[in-house]
Amino acid sequence: MARLVIHGGNALHGEVRISGAKNSALAIIVAAALATEGESVLENIPHDSDVGTICLILRSLGVEAWFDSQGRLHVNGKTLNRYQAPYDLVRKMRASFYCAGLLIGRLGRAEVPLPGGCAIGSRPVDFHIRGFSQMGADITIEHGFMKAQCNDLRGANYYINRSSVGTTINMMIAAILAKGTTVLENVAKEPEIVDLAIFLNGMGAKVRGAGTDVIRIDGVESLHGIEYSIIPDRIEAGTFMFAAAITGGDIIVKDIVLEHLRSPIIKIEEAGAIIEKGTTEVRVRVNGQLQPIDLETSPYPGFPTDLQQPLVAAMCLADGASVIRENIFDRFRYVDELRRMGADIRVERETAIIRGVPQLTGAPVEVTDLRAGAALVIAGLAASGRTEIYGLDIIDRGYENLEEKFRNLGADIAREETREVTDIFSQIQRVNV
Ligand code: EPZ
Repeated sequence: MARLVIHGGNALHGEVRISGAKNSALAIIVAAALATEGESVLENIPHDSDVGTICLILRSLGVEAWFDSQGRLHVNGKTLNRYQAPYDLVRKMRASFYCAGLLIGRLGRAEVPLPGGCAIGSRPVDFHIRGFSQMGADITIEHGFMKAQCNDLRGANYYINRSSVGTTINMMIAAILAKGTTVLENVAKEPEIVDLAIFLNGMGAKVRGAGTDVIRIDGVESLHGIEYSIIPDRIEAGTFMFAAAITGGDIIVKDIVLEHLRSPIIKIEEAGAIIEKGTTEVRVRVNGQLQPIDLETSPYPGFPTDLQQPLVAAMCLADGASVIRENIFDRFRYVDELRRMGADIRVERETAIIRGVPQLTGAPVEVTDLRAGAALVIAGLAASGRTEIYGLDIIDRGYENLEEKFRNLGADIAREETREVTDIFSQIQRVNV
């Protein structure tokens, strides 16, 4: 096990390249296994552990998935031949449930563990299951698994109760090879959905409307593999922007799609950052103290829930009180850790009230979920003294080379191995018996 050790206080300077979008990659890797003719070669796939997990799950189902020496991921779905997804892998990550759409679409049969509890709330999959039923799948829930059987998957009209990224992705994956037309209403409009649709259409699918409220899919007989490059990770980009802001830095965030970052850019400008936009990059500069801001998270194009925590961390040092409302998940558990660093945050139901303090102080802290991890790193970069961040495996799920990228921007940050509880007996053994 490892921890991050940060000595805070360095303003960030320099350039950082943004990796491919984790949440796009997870959907596209699964969707790639829909093809039975040729392999797909996927570029710009981030090398984080969630990507590793989804590849292992696909392999357990018979799919070929491997990285070449240039870091490109090859996926060949022709050999998909098993319909039972293994609990020990699926439990690690909720996006594993996309395998349900794949298996139902390709084999007409799926047994996939239901995702359990989660650090950011209960996160049910009822919308996904209702959608599969509407397409003709016979669904039972047994022993913690969703079992689906379907001899004749057919297109359906499905209104999703709430704009849900995961449901939209799972339904798109299931509907591609179904008979007839599927119309999905009130779908998510996130850039990752559009990326998936472009990829699917490149493979021979007929998907229209991605990026709007309604997606129409005309089922096709089969798909073929293609070469494809994943969009940049807007959440990683936003994380670096807030890190620059809290440290009073001056950085250029490169290889991004500016349009995907519209709301974070507007908010960071409101907080007092000077923004210079290029074609595929943005320069973020902050002179002096940040100004407080009020906002609420909402589905794209609103302010993303995945940047709520980095934003809250930045507001801990603002000149006044910020009010941040979280509308998507139960995502404020990490504020206890920020408080241990001296932050003044009060949470009332879905709202956090953050009163800026003159200084944060370094402390040992524990990561509660992925984006909370990013927030703690950001706070540590600005805090006085030493911060130790435990639970690094959670950060590794969704950030590629995070500490190396921050180090290249001038941060004093290092990964250290820790002695774990598994060592405990060697530590308490009497040596002179
Ligand atoms: C995706 O999660 C992302 N994960 C999340 O990123 C992201 O925070 C979230 O979308 C919102 O943008 C991936 O893409 C792998 P939802 P997802 O379905 O699909 C409720 C990160 O840190 N809901 O859009 O699970 C749900 O509880 C992760 O990278 C149901 O009630 O989110 C939530 O309140 C965390 N029933 C809302 O809908 C369902 O069946 C939106 O969730 C499905 C969802």
